[in-house]
Amino acid sequence: MTRILVTGGAGYIGSIATHMLLEAGYEVSVLDDLSTGHKDAIDTRARFVEGSILDSDALTAALSNCSAVMHFAGKSLVGESVEKPDLYMQVNVEGSTKLLDAMKVAGIKDIVFSSSAATYGQPGDAPISEQSPTKPTNPYGVTKLKVDELLASRAVTDGIAAVSLRYFNVAGALQTSDGWLAERHNPETHLIPNIFKATPSAPLQVFGTDWPTPDNTCIRDYVHVLDLIDGHISALSIMKPGTYQVLNLGSGSGYSVREVIDTASRVAGRVMPSVDVARRAGDPAVLVASIEKAKKVLNWSPKRDLNQIMQDVVSSGA
Ligand code: UFG
Repeated sequence: MTRILVTGGAGYIGSIATHMLLEAGYEVSVLDDLSTGHKDAIDTRARFVEGSILDSDALTAALSNCSAVMHFAGKSLVGESVEKPDLYMQVNVEGSTKLLDAMKVAGIKDIVFSSSAATYGQPGDAPISEQSPTKPTNPYGVTKLKVDELLASRAVTDGIAAVSLRYFNVAGALQTSDGWLAERHNPETHLIPNIFKATPSAPLQVFGTDWPTPDNTCIRDYVHVLDLIDGHISALSIMKPGTYQVLNLGSGSGYSVREVIDTASRVAGRVMPSVDVARRAGDPAVLVASIEKAKKVLNWSPKRDLNQIMQDVVSSGA
């Protein structure tokens, strides 16, 4: 039986990965310091080690009997990263370095890393391919790119097998026999959960209506979290010692903020209240993935569209 270490397994994406790995027949260990995750999101079939990726003893304990790692743990708020760049360097870069050091001692070579489209910055390319230039515009993107570079270098020096998955806008939820696993961030900054939190007295704020797009709001690529994790599980079978591979995971389609609000209103059967406000600092106008490489290399393609994302978020009650 293959045991996978899921770092950040109490978070939104990591907890869903844990559940799906268990359903796919893997054994799972979770390492999480519960700084932003939720203990009740961790599948009870997983072995849970409470601790930080900055703690070598916790890493050693968590890696016991594992043969591969899915590395989700990290800080992930763009705005916070601008205010606290040192924290992002420490947790994301130093934490990943310590994880790789502990994997080396334990003789574990396979790692799937949770990277981000934030590594690309504000590209002129649409869609964005893995060959597009990487020019992150905030400390969060810088730290994700530094870990990508670290993985590429450790593939050469230590012979690790690394796959870095660059996520676009992840959304949606998973129903389990114990209830729904959905986004539970505090504060919540993401568009889709915020649409469903909106009320007439606290409407969704639409950040910027003067963008160079057809309806003047930003365009993003929304991928269902279940498709995203299917991609991670497929990645486990393309590991090659001594290589670093980078793959975009998105839907390959772009939707404007207004289109996302309209889809949510249609699916929920009520109009989602919104108000137009100024642009949010650091937002690029358009981010849409080319997913041709992931389709070819992983034999993967997303199966769930924006309607399905909305239906699952509505059903989850998030
Ligand atoms: N938006 C609003 N109102 C909100 C929240 C978001 O109008 O209340 C808009 C944003 O301006 C943006 C779009 O909705 O145009 C999507 O915003 P999100 O915050 O949901 O997602 P981002 O595209 O900003 O962020 C995502 C990931 C980040 C990653 C970034 C760049 O969540 O981790 O893409 O790759 F860094």
